[in-house]
Amino acid sequence: MRRKIVAGNWKMHGSRAANTPLIEAIVATVTSERVGCVICPPHVYLHDAARALHGGAVALGAQDLCAEAVGAFTGEVSGAMLKDVGCSYTLVGHSERRSLFGESSALVARKFAAALGAGLIPILCVGEQLSEREAGRTEGIVAAQLEAVTQLSGVQALAGALIAYEPVWAIGTGRTATPEQAQEVHAFIRQRIAVEDAKIAAGLRILYGGSVKAGNAQDIFAMPDVDGGLIGGASLKADEFLAIVAAA
Ligand code: PGA
Repeated sequence: MRRKIVAGNWKMHGSRAANTPLIEAIVATVTSERVGCVICPPHVYLHDAARALHGGAVALGAQDLCAEAVGAFTGEVSGAMLKDVGCSYTLVGHSERRSLFGESSALVARKFAAALGAGLIPILCVGEQLSEREAGRTEGIVAAQLEAVTQLSGVQALAGALIAYEPVWAIGTGRTATPEQAQEVHAFIRQRIAVEDAKIAAGLRILYGGSVKAGNAQDIFAMPDVDGGLIGGASLKADEFLAIVAAA
């Protein structure tokens, strides 16, 4: 049985005033690690968040990191720095990074390696655009995004990682993939990895992301290859997020 994980991606939302009650509510409710719970606030709030989580059952993640370990990279934040302020996870290759900030799969693969190198658990985001789905290219797109990582780091690197399947057309749109659509791609991802290493594939946690809400989480999480969720908008409201954690 794979332990389910629910991760909240706050994106560029929040303030010190708003984060405090949100984190307090999550910490007060999530006291067991039966379901993994991770929050990913913006970089500048990570240190505060780490203190508020005080090493309890809720883990801390970043939304992105630099592919380089140290040096003259103005504006960037390294994996070691994220680890230093208390992160144990980081998202890598979120579709907004890929589409709005031009991150190629090759760069995402380097970031994935950098995260592992810093001792962070990478949550590798993959997923197709609507036009790609309509053209029947979903599997090819997802396979290529995975392959960039396995070619650079080897399939073994996935043993300590999470994958988040996020169809781009479902992110922030209110248009969720059906549980069956999610299951289909999750099963594809697992099979694809199983070709290289069956044991790693069997243990791999694959999260679904894209308009997950309290009202649809249970049906999606009930699918055999869905091991939890990556939650955007709904992670900003304590009640909604906690209901999703409860559904897992
Ligand atoms: P959403 O975002 O839940 O608001 O659709 C998911 C994500 O981008 O990780």
